[in-house]
Amino acid sequence: MNLFTDLEEIVKENEPMSKHTWFRLGGSARYFARPRNQQELADVVRRCHENSVPMYVLGRGSNILVSDEGVNGVVIQIFYKHFGKVSIEGSTVRAEAGASLSNLVRRCAQEGLSGVECLVGIPGTVGGAVKINAGGRFGDIGSVCQSVQVMDSSAYDFERRRDDIYFSYRMTNIIAKFILGAEFTLTPEDPERIGKLIREVWVLKKNSQPMNSRSAGCVFKNPRALSAGALIDKVGLKGHSVGGAHISEKHANFIEAHNNATSKDVLQLIEIIKDKVRDRFDVELELEIDVWE
Ligand code: EPU
Repeated sequence: MNLFTDLEEIVKENEPMSKHTWFRLGGSARYFARPRNQQELADVVRRCHENSVPMYVLGRGSNILVSDEGVNGVVIQIFYKHFGKVSIEGSTVRAEAGASLSNLVRRCAQEGLSGVECLVGIPGTVGGAVKINAGGRFGDIGSVCQSVQVMDSSAYDFERRRDDIYFSYRMTNIIAKFILGAEFTLTPEDPERIGKLIREVWVLKKNSQPMNSRSAGCVFKNPRALSAGALIDKVGLKGHSVGGAHISEKHANFIEAHNNATSKDVLQLIEIIKDKVRDRFDVELELEIDVWE
């Protein structure tokens, strides 16, 4: 393993990505690295950069579909055990990129800080959430984010501050490859009221989305002023399957992977959805999930 000599403790070869994605689908990554600190991350990144090896950044794998062929590069996981700290000082919250959103929400609620309740039920990490400005009907992570620590693909790390970050619907102008952490300014609030809101968001989600199946959340972004789920529902695709990939009966913007599913099944189902919605509504659906091919 010449590329990663001396980094054998944190780099594996031919690691099945089905072990690391919520879909539990996908072939192997040529290399899979789980750096234990920023220095090791920079070391891995520098080697990839110098050798022109493609890098794929993984958080909890909850918004990703990896092809059955896997990826011929290095998957670098920003793992919660090494990059998962959440610290709170007054109403300022600092979270490392690998911290889970559920942990962030819980810690803030305990401290009586409001502003991240909208993230309840989203299974990802802080890094992934910042990168796509995750959120829902109750708000998004960008609205409370003050600064973001990033590292680019040549291992140069720096900070982006709120006044030069643009957060919009499921996107930001942060192009650096890695999010290392972020700082949030929240609002002091009665913990009981926070708890009540959290329960409300949770119940709404539980009633309208499949929570315990193998999926990657909403597959498509909502087109302006429309709901992708409602459009897919209206073209009659709820419950439709290709192989083991199945459009959820509960929410049509979710594709569930059943036992025999392959990534190819999911990709074919995605094409069917796009074609039908285009034909019927003249709307081009755009993927919200990341597809690694
Ligand atoms: N609808 C249908 N059929 C369906 C699904 C939805 O008719 O199969 C209708 C609903 O009845 C409702 C409307 O479409 O009138 C909107 O549905 P919903 O409230 O479920 O919200 P959404 O726009 O489909 C968005 C986010 C979700 C987030 C929820 C709740 C996107 C793509 N989706 O869904 O985020 O959880 O709001 O806040 O922005 C995700 O990003 O992965 C995700 C799941």
